[in-house]
Formats: sequence, C-alpha cells, structure tokens
Amino acid sequence: MEKNILTLEVNKDGVGTIIIDLPGEKLNVLKRQALEELEQIITKFETDDNIRALVLISGKEDNFLAGADITMFADLKTAEDGYQGSRTAHKLFSRLYDNRKPVVAAINGACLGGGLEIALNCHYRIATDHPKTTFALPEVKLGLLPGATGTNRLIRLIPLEMALECMLVGKNVYPPRAKLVGLIDEVTPPSYLRKAAEDRALKLANKTLKVNRPTWPIPQGGALTAILKGAKDMVDKQTKGIYPAPYKILHTVEESLTKGLEAGFEAEARGFGELVVNPVAHSLIHLFFTSNECKKNTSVPAGVKPIKVEKIGILGAGLMGAGVAGVSLDAGYAVRMKDRDTASVGKGIAYASEIINEKYGKRKGGHIDVFKRLDKLSGTTDYSGFKNVDIVIEAVFEDVALKHKVIKEVEAEMSEHAIFASNTSAIPITLLSQASKRPEKFIGMHFFSPVHKMPLVEIIVTEKTSPETIATAVEITKRYGKTPIVVNDGFGFYTSRVIGRYIMEAYCGLAEGYKIEELDLAATKVGFPVGPVVLTDEVGIDVAEKAGKVVEQVFGSRMKGPDLVSKVVADGRFGRKNGKGFYIYNDGKKGGVDHTVYSFIPHAYDRKPADLAEIADRYLYAFVNESALCLQENILRNPNDGDIGGVMGIGFPPNLGGPFYFADKTGLDKVVKNLRKLEEKFGERFKPAQILVDMAESGKTFFPNK
Ligand SMILES: NC(=O)c1ccc[n+]([C@@H]2O[C@H](COP(=O)([O-])OP(=O)(O)OC[C@H]3O[C@@H](n4cnc5c(N)ncnc54)[C@H](O)[C@@H]3O)[C@@H](O)[C@H]2O)c1
Repeated sequence: MEKNILTLEVNKDGVGTIIIDLPGEKLNVLKRQALEELEQIITKFETDDNIRALVLISGKEDNFLAGADITMFADLKTAEDGYQGSRTAHKLFSRLYDNRKPVVAAINGACLGGGLEIALNCHYRIATDHPKTTFALPEVKLGLLPGATGTNRLIRLIPLEMALECMLVGKNVYPPRAKLVGLIDEVTPPSYLRKAAEDRALKLANKTLKVNRPTWPIPQGGALTAILKGAKDMVDKQTKGIYPAPYKILHTVEESLTKGLEAGFEAEARGFGELVVNPVAHSLIHLFFTSNECKKNTSVPAGVKPIKVEKIGILGAGLMGAGVAGVSLDAGYAVRMKDRDTASVGKGIAYASEIINEKYGKRKGGHIDVFKRLDKLSGTTDYSGFKNVDIVIEAVFEDVALKHKVIKEVEAEMSEHAIFASNTSAIPITLLSQASKRPEKFIGMHFFSPVHKMPLVEIIVTEKTSPETIATAVEITKRYGKTPIVVNDGFGFYTSRVIGRYIMEAYCGLAEGYKIEELDLAATKVGFPVGPVVLTDEVGIDVAEKAGKVVEQVFGSRMKGPDLVSKVVADGRFGRKNGKGFYIYNDGKKGGVDHTVYSFIPHAYDRKPADLAEIADRYLYAFVNESALCLQENILRNPNDGDIGGVMGIGFPPNLGGPFYFADKTGLDKVVKNLRKLEEKFGERFKPAQILVDMAESGKTFFPNK
C-alpha cells in the first residue's frame, strides 16, 4: 500500500492541519495521489462540523510545495485531456476558496506553481522569513500557464502589472514584497509557523480576526487595454512570437477581466490544454528533466567522494577570473585571486564585489550578506596563500606557453591534496596537463560569460583525470547553482567546437553576399537568443579568428571557413570590447550594422536578400551534425549533455529542446536527407555524421523513451 502524502491532525479547538509530506523525497511536489487525498480531506472538512478551520502546512524542512509533478503531464495526450485536467483542479481548489469555513496556508520555503495556486485558494496566507521562502508561478518556463486557478486568482489579489510579471516571466517574489502587496498576510519565524497558523485559523473561524490586506483596483477599459498591450509588446520583443504560453496567459487575463471569472477559468483551462500538447512545452519539459539528470549524474563510479573544498585560488583576475571569484564567494567559498600586478588584482576585486553587491546590496538586511561574502575575498600578485587552497581555477590569457608557465609556478606552491582546473575556452586539457606533475588532479572547468548569469559549466576530463577530481568539479559546479556537463577532451571540447561551426556557417553566408542583419535575423527567428554575427562581436572577432585557424588545423578541410575576417581584424575591429565590429557601438550600446565593414568582405556592394528559412536550416543542421560528431567521437558521453550544453552554454534554441532532441523530433532519416541536400549544395562540411546515418538506418533514436 502506498504511504499517505497528506495527513490530517485535528486539534482540541477543531482546527484541522493538513501536513503535506511526500514520502522519501526532500521536495514536496503535487502528485495525483496527493490530489486524491486532498479531495477526501476537503469532503471531510465540508461535512464534519467538528472541523472548524483548516491549515495547510508542509512536513519538509525547507519547502512548502514546489508545484505539480511534471511527469503527470505526459499522460495528457490531447488538448481535451489537458483542459479536463485543469477543470478538475479548478473544481477541487475552488472548494477550498468557496468554503465558508476558513482555510489558512502556512508557508515555509518554496511555494511554486501548483503550490502557490493551492495557497491562492486559501483565505489567509502566513509565511516564514526563512531565506528559502519564495513565491513564483514558473509554469511559463516550461511553456505552460498556471492552470489550476492561478492565472485568475493572482490578478485579483495583487497589482495587475506585478501579477503579469510573475506569470509572464516566472519571477520569484520574496516575503517582504509579498506582504507589501498582499500576496501573504503575515510573516513569522519558522519555529512559530504552525502555532501561528492554527491560531489565525481559529480566530478566523471565531470571527475575531479580520483579514487586513491592501486591495488593488482592477483596471478596466482603456487602462486595462493599455496594460495588456504593454505586456504583449514586451512578450513580442522577448519571445519573437516563438513561445505560445505568454500569449495564452494574456488571453486568459483579458477574458477574465473583461468577461468575468467563469470565462477566465474556461480560457485558463483551454489555454493549458493547448499548451500542454504543444511541441514547445515538450521541448522545455525535456530540458527541465535533462538538466536535473545532469545534476544528479556525478559521472563517477558510486562511492567516489569529492574532496572537501573551502578555499579557491584563482589565477587571472580578468573578466572570467573575477566572474568565477564572484560566484565562488556567493556560494560561500573563500577566494584568493592572483594577477600580474596590483591594478589588475584591484579591477578583479572590484568586479567580483560588484557581482555580490548586485545580488544582495538592495535586499533588506542585504549588507550583512554582502559583508559576509566579501570578507572572504583577498588578492595577491604572488602565490602567497595558495598553499591553503583546495582548488586553483586558472583564467589567464588563452596562451599555451603562459598557461604552462603558471601551472608549473602554482603547483610548486599548492598543497598535495589540491586540484588544478583550467578555464581555457578551447585548448585541449591534455595538452595543458603536460606541464603538470599530477595529471590525475588536473581538469577543465569551462565557464561561460558572464559567469554569474550563465547556468552551465562544461567539465573536461582527460584520460588521467581521477574520479575524485571529476566528482569535486561536479560538486563545486552544483554548489554554484549551475548545471554541469562532463565531457571528454578534444580541441574545443563540445561547446566551443560546435559554436565555432555555427559561426563559420554565418561567415560562409557573409562570403556568399548575404546581409549581416539577415544572417542574424535568420537565427533569432527560429529561437537562437543571439545571431552568429552579433555573437562574434561579443566573443571578439580576433578571438574567433584565432580559434578558426586552429579549428582548421585540427579538423581539416571540413572546417575551413572563408578567409574573410582577417581583413576585418586587420582594420582594428575586435567587436564589442573595442566598440568596433560588424555592428556599431555607442558608449557600449549596440546599434545597427556598420556598413563600412562590407568593404573588407566579398560582395562589398551587392549584398543579396536572404532565404531566411534556408539559412536557419544551415545553422540548425550545422549544430546538429557537429554535435553528432562529438557524440560519435566520444567527446560527448551522452545526448543529454549535448542538449543541455547546446542550450545552456551556446544558445541552441530552447524551444527546439537541444540538437539531439531536435534531431529525434525531426526524424533521423529526414535529418540525414536534409544534410545530404545541404552537402550537395554547400560541400563536405554538411556530410552527415556516420552515427546519424547508422541510427537512421537502424531506426534508432537518441531518446527512445521520449
Ligand atoms: N571571455 C570569455 O567569454 C571566455 C569564456 C570562457 C573561457 N574563457 C577563457 O578564460 C581565460 C581568461 O579569459 P578572460 O576573458 O578572462 O581574459 P582577460 O584578458 O579578461 O583576463 C586574463 C587575466 O589574466 C591575467 N594574467 C596574465 N598573465 C598572468 C599571470 N602570469 N598570472 C596571473 N594572471 C595573469 C591578466 O592580467 C588578465 O587580468 C582564457 O583562457 C579564455 O579563453 C574566456
């Protein structure tokens, strides 16, 4: 027999407390069984006069309810299934809302999605000041909308603009702001939560407590139209019309506020039903599960433990080194940063401090968090203090000789147990480790810029890297709150190699005479967050040029791009960093295409209009094929890492779920056919990877269960 998820305890005053506690899990999520148990308890509550009020509380230490169990959505095969599922939830939750007896939500920790929707159907919400107490409706991030009354209830509780922000962006709200706007009614310390909630429930039943929360005018007519239009403009800009969920949310809100609650519920359920069977939601849900798998998969044999890391040494206090310092401090590590001179160290310390200040500085009491972290940061121009660190993360210039030099220097100072990790963008870790006396403690940790915003770390292992070293890099990455992928060594590893191929395709387009803005538009139209030419400006045209030359040496004629950027670089155009690239930069702000750049590339004066769909296909298939080659060559250990690395590290369109998921959904036989067509037209760079050909022939897929 399955253990209960919900238990009801009724005290002597007739206050029933439902304790939500999913057996064997750290996190509460709403499973079907919990909904069935909730229904039984609500029926008892409705009919049993001895229960005068209800409290909902979590049995977990630091989370209330993190939302619906997403695996349930796989059972919803049609839009009608989704509609009915949403309608069932409406009826169930509304039985709390419409009950004449009071219901109180007692919230400690994450209160997300379906968890917040239940809370929104309670008559009083009391939450703790625990740092993990947060409120959010993040359904939009999975391509869905809050389908269990949330879209309709939230807009009637808090200011409409804020409700829209919560639903369209999935933004977190913390207790102080939640209290200010009336999302919660009271804040209390965790130790007092249950007692306080039961007390308020009893007082509400006795009518000795009156709910006193701000009420907000619900905009009507022209004011409503203006707000919805503003929100739609923002959605158009951010999603380019590719993601349907925000539009369904806006439609539901409009129906609800112009035609009433019942019409709103109907729109919410219809919207949910349509979204839950939409390929975009399927892709985003695939990424959600895959990223969780990457976090769980330690990539080492069971029983291997990471070493204990408290202090991190960083070599190079530039953009990346200082970024890594910032996230390390945020995660609670002590950081010692070394650079060549005091000015560089000072700059690095300033940047790391800025990251911490940006995150905590504006929060109430945040100065304590800032102080606690910055107190653990120090800088040096020699290796003093490096004997105490547990890991060194190197981020000096991308130069093999320099890296070899600093490896030797720092290893002479480091203690026996400590690990060395390089943040090189592309240099094989095996090559770097030749300067090391202990290659088993040598690994690559490839961060992405800006470090504090990018969610991925690519961990690169050589044949000699020990499992303990891998486990440590994975553990640190997770403590940063980032997702690790563990890949084998090779030039450019996975991410830099594939992104190089993507950029090369844009260069080919430039050489064929296409316009810069169209080469970028073709990419963003299908969901790449930035086009490849803008990306080159961001990375540095000079950096891309250098990498391109090495790529050609390593991978041969297949990776020979057109020789067009050397003249651009010779003209002193390095991209955003020196304000001169393919685009114009004014005070760091990107403007339009700098047309003078055309004089350095072929077809200077006769740029031709592009077939955007064909160009987008070239990008997508270049990405898919190079990813498949990485899997074939065992750089990638599995397709999961390829999809997560592709989307989180180098901008493969999330709406397509990653290069391997996209290939599966397109059909591998069709992928091979399309690659062959492209090969015929553009040459050997599109020759399909053997793994794709073989899998297509044998009818295999990358994700047989999806
Ligand atoms: N910029 C990116 O987007 C990015 C992304 C991933 C990886 N990387 C890699 O990270 C590394 C650093 O890149 P960056 O963009 O931070 O460069 P950067 O130029 O901003 O910083 C490099 C720093 O190294 C310092 N340095 C040079 N010699 C040193 C020495 N002997 N000891 C200590 N410090 C020394 C320099 O003074 C400078 O502050 C490179 O290997 C790069 O390929 C960069």
